[in-house]
Amino acid sequence: MAFQERVFSGVQPTGSLHLGNYLGAITKFVALQDNYDCVYCVVDLHAITVWQDPAELPRATREVTAAFVACGIDPRKHIIFNQSQVAEHAELAWIFSCVARIGWLNRMTQFKEKAGKDRENASVGLYSYPTLMAADILVYRATHVPVGEDQKQHLELSRDIAQKFNNDFGGSIHSHGYGDAFFPLPEPLIQGPATRVMSLRDGTKKMSKSDPSDYSRINLTDDADTIAQKIRKAKTDPEPLPSEEAGLAQRPEADNLVGIFAALAGIGKTDVLRQFGGAQFSTFKAALVDLAVAKLGPIGEEMKRLVQDPVAIDAILGEGSARARALAAQTMSAVRDIVGFVRS
Ligand code: AMP
Ligand code: TRP
Repeated sequence: MAFQERVFSGVQPTGSLHLGNYLGAITKFVALQDNYDCVYCVVDLHAITVWQDPAELPRATREVTAAFVACGIDPRKHIIFNQSQVAEHAELAWIFSCVARIGWLNRMTQFKEKAGKDRENASVGLYSYPTLMAADILVYRATHVPVGEDQKQHLELSRDIAQKFNNDFGGSIHSHGYGDAFFPLPEPLIQGPATRVMSLRDGTKKMSKSDPSDYSRINLTDDADTIAQKIRKAKTDPEPLPSEEAGLAQRPEADNLVGIFAALAGIGKTDVLRQFGGAQFSTFKAALVDLAVAKLGPIGEEMKRLVQDPVAIDAILGEGSARARALAAQTMSAVRDIVGFVRS
C-alpha cells in the first residue's frame, strides 16, 4: 500500500545546538520543506531520559524552536512543536514497548555509550528511548526521516517495530480496512558530506553537546570571533591538504574540516580539494572561518533575537502542537481499534 509521504524529525533540547546538529540535521529539514509536508519536533520527553534542570529545560526548548525558525523552517507551512504537548507520543511508545523485543534494545550502541559503566543506574527511559523515537515518527505515519549518522541504528529499530506491528496485528489491520500494513517503514535520509561532524579537538570523536570542552564544537549562537578562534585552534596534522578525497583516508581531522567546508558551501569534498589541494591548513582555515561566519553569523543573530520573545515562540509551539495533535489523534484512534481496546 502507498502511504502519503511525510517527513518527521526531532532534536533534543539539551545543551546548546552545534554545527553537527546544523549540518547533519537542520539544513536537511530546511531543504525538505519544498517537496514534503514536514513535522519537526523539539523532543523534550527524550531530553529527560537524563536529568534536566526544570529551571533550564524551557529555555533549551525555546532555543531549539528559535533555531528551527532562524535556519528557515516556516512554521506556517509546516509543523514545529514540542513533544510533551502531544500525549499520543507517549501512548504509542507504550504499545511499541510491547512490540519491540529486549534483544533489539540490547543492541543499541547509543545506550551503551550514554549509560557507560554505570548501566544499573541509567534510567529505564534511556534504555527504552528508541521505542519513543519510533512512536514519534509513526504516530504521524511519517515516511522519511532526516537525521545524522548517529541515529541510523535507531531508525532501523523503528522500521523493525513498524514491521512487527504490521505482522503481529495483520489480521486486525486488514479487518479494520487498512489493507496489508498500517505503518509505513520509515526511510532514513542520511546524505551529504557532513552526516557525522567530528569534534574540533579530536577527529575520532563525534561533535556533541555534552563534550566538556567548548572548543570541541561550534555553537549556533557563537559570535564571529568565537567561531574564528575555534576554527584556528582546531586540531590538524602537519601535512598540506591532499588533492583527492582518497588522501583524507587516515587523516580524521583533515577529513572533518574538509567535510564541514563542503557542507557549508553546498559542494562535494572533491570540489573543496580541487580548490585547496596542496594548501597549508593556515590558508584553508582562513577560508573556512570566512565561510562559517558568513553562514552561521546571521543564524546566531536571528536566534538571539527570537529567544528574546518567549511569548511568540510559545505561540509557534502551541499552534504546532494543536496541528500535530490532530494528526496523532487519528493514528491513535486507529491503533486502539487495531490492538483491540474497548471504547465505550
Ligand atoms: P540531538 O542533539 O542528539 O538531538 O541530535 C539532533 C540531530 O542532529 C540528529 O538528527 C542527530 O543525528 C544530528 N547530530 C547530532 N550530532 C551530530 C554530529 N556530530 N554530526 C552530524 N549530525 C549530528
Ligand atoms: N533521538 C534523536 C537524537 O538524539 C532525536 C529524536 C527523537 C528523533 N525522536 C526522533 C530524530 C524521531 C528523528 C526522528 O538525535
